[in-house]
Amino acid sequence: MPQPALLEVKNLHVHFPLSRGTVRAVDGASLTLYRGETVGLVGESGCGKSVLARAILRIVPRPGRIVEGQILYHRPVGGLSETVDLTTLDPDAPMLRFIRGLEIALIFQEPLSSLNPVYTIGQHIVEAICLHQPVSKQQAREQAIAMLKQVGMPEPARTVDRYPHQLSGGMCQRAMIAIALSCYPSLLIADEPTTALDVTTEAQILELMLNLQHELGMAILFITHNLGLIAEMAERVVVMYLGRIVEAADVQALFYHPLHPYTQALLRAIPRLGPRDRNARLYAIRGNVPEPYATLPGCPFHPRCDAMRPGICDRQEPPWVQVTTDHGVRCVLYR
Ligand SMILES: Nc1ncnc2c1ncn2[C@@H]1O[C@H](COP(=O)(O)OP(=O)(O)O)[C@@H](O)[C@H]1O
Ligand SMILES: [Mg+2]
Repeated sequence: MPQPALLEVKNLHVHFPLSRGTVRAVDGASLTLYRGETVGLVGESGCGKSVLARAILRIVPRPGRIVEGQILYHRPVGGLSETVDLTTLDPDAPMLRFIRGLEIALIFQEPLSSLNPVYTIGQHIVEAICLHQPVSKQQAREQAIAMLKQVGMPEPARTVDRYPHQLSGGMCQRAMIAIALSCYPSLLIADEPTTALDVTTEAQILELMLNLQHELGMAILFITHNLGLIAEMAERVVVMYLGRIVEAADVQALFYHPLHPYTQALLRAIPRLGPRDRNARLYAIRGNVPEPYATLPGCPFHPRCDAMRPGICDRQEPPWVQVTTDHGVRCVLYR
């Protein structure tokens, strides 16, 4: 495991008080990221991955708010580090603005919704560069073209003056990555960055991210609902269910020895190529994700779990069990 820690999320709770009830989007999540590593965050749609990502940057939309927990960011400063608890800062604090653009970058699933339609791609990148570097507009523009070239944008010297609507989905996502990386962040949070793209473009974007990581040495939190992508991208995996982290392990251990019944079910639900019994049905996890307002006693997965122990799993919150140094699980089966 690479050292030292870059980000530690501790017992984070993010709630949305709505008229129909409170949505506990993140409900006691803890995870650690080390410098330079790629961690995959996986879980079904609605389990709180995006809210967690936004909470780290303190851009949770209203009425959502952090009600408990810490987000310790160990800023690399020279050869040392300075620890900041991001939950204690005002969302508009200068320190947080600085961290947001320069140190922790976020790319979203929908590039068009995060690019401003009235700015050219170049203006977006120049703005990001000028925010943090004492360079002239002309120098920033040259850097922007170089960055577009680096992310594999076709005809960078012309694309720099194009508007978002003039680009394809893949080009927009490349532009987003160029904007995110123009400040050489220490952490890139990629929230389903390729879900809206076709598979060929997806493969190119993923390879690009890994290459740039290699060059820039940043850590990546790679968020997806697709375990297949995790296998290709990540060194470690964190599995989320209903706002909680239920398992964390290195990639090999997670795929070959998954411990949590939810992780096991997720893996069984991946369709496989090859001969199969035509009468056999594809595996699906039984039941549905409970509605977001529900508060379940015990383990959040117990209503859907094949290994559920009545009287235990439906009553007590399962403890976190560190089975080996790099494999932990939140389940009573391993107590
Ligand atoms: N702006 C919002 N207002 C109310 N509820 C929200 C908002 N954003 C997310 N949620 C709720 O928080 C939960 C987690 O959502 P999200 O983090 O987007 O899931 P994921 O990214 O894992 O698919 C969901 O139940 C969702 O409905
Ligand atoms: Mg999401």
